[in-house]
Amino acid sequence: MLYDNHGREINYVRIAVTDRCNLRCFYCMPEEGIQYMPKKDLLTFEEIERLVTLLAAMGISKVRFTGGEPFVRKDFMELVNSISAIQGIDSLHLTTNGVLTGPYVQQLKQAGVKSVNLSLDTLDRERFKIITRRDEFDNVMDTLNLLLKENIEVKINAVVMEGKNTDDILALVDFTKDKPVSVRFIEEMPFNGEGSHYPILNWTHKKIIDHIQGAYPNMVKIKDEPHSTSYNYSIPGHLGNIGVIAAFSRTFCGTCNRIRITAQGTLKTCLYDDGVLSIRDLMRSQASDTQIKETLSKAFRNRAKDGFEAERARRSGAGVSESMSTIGG
Ligand code: 5AD
Ligand code: SF4
Repeated sequence: MLYDNHGREINYVRIAVTDRCNLRCFYCMPEEGIQYMPKKDLLTFEEIERLVTLLAAMGISKVRFTGGEPFVRKDFMELVNSISAIQGIDSLHLTTNGVLTGPYVQQLKQAGVKSVNLSLDTLDRERFKIITRRDEFDNVMDTLNLLLKENIEVKINAVVMEGKNTDDILALVDFTKDKPVSVRFIEEMPFNGEGSHYPILNWTHKKIIDHIQGAYPNMVKIKDEPHSTSYNYSIPGHLGNIGVIAAFSRTFCGTCNRIRITAQGTLKTCLYDDGVLSIRDLMRSQASDTQIKETLSKAFRNRAKDGFEAERARRSGAGVSESMSTIGG
């Protein structure tokens, strides 16, 4: 097993396969998009495969693909299939906006993908268009239904934004009545690609829960999975359940089991750090497997204790400024 310098087990890697996205959710990117990286700067599939093989040998057993939007990258399913075959990787997951995902649902099932997180902040078609700046709501709903048909576990990620979709909270809770999905309400974070622009966090995880409890007084706390970032609740009579993720308040760092690889192959040992190591450059400098593993081990033994410490240690000193689409969520 792999441990960090704070005694936390590390067994989970999140890999952003591209920084490109076909939506423009305003909490993630400005309208005109962000400056995308040249393709040569992205990790190749071969490099990702090599990296995951090394990480699996070190103790990582869970992989999540994120982006940008993973299906925007050409032949993404080939990567899913090759990573699922790596010895030691026993749990494969995907975060997607669902726009292009529908035709691949069966292949995802065949590849053994255990759960899919769908980004969906509203059930209202018009509001979806305003939030994502694209008219793709129907495609996302089709994907959602196909995933459920294939019995793939579905979690809905809903970022709660003051003045934008707080009216949708209860509708999303109501959605879990007949659908076996888990809706997770996420505190808005400053990863919006707009420089150091910190949104004012009115809707904290506490306020979201109070709001839901007001409408569903019989809601009950359920046991959270180990290392879970969400606090989860069930509502009697509902097929699905709900949760809140204190992404900005950062209450879950004490059990953090995850590392991240950005689209350009940078290792992040915390969501709020600004990258601790370019694995891409290391791999392209002809480093041996042993050298790469040693360098990774050193980074894992030097992790910030929580997201606040990581944020303070950023080299720019100006707080976070990047888009979530380069980090992968
Ligand atoms: N704050 C909170 N969550 C965000 N996401 C993207 N940008 C932000 C942000 N600024 C979430 C989306 C997506 C996941 C990868 O990250 O809900 O599903
Ligand atoms: Fe882990 Fe950093 Fe997230 Fe905390 S803020 S849970 S340390 S990634």
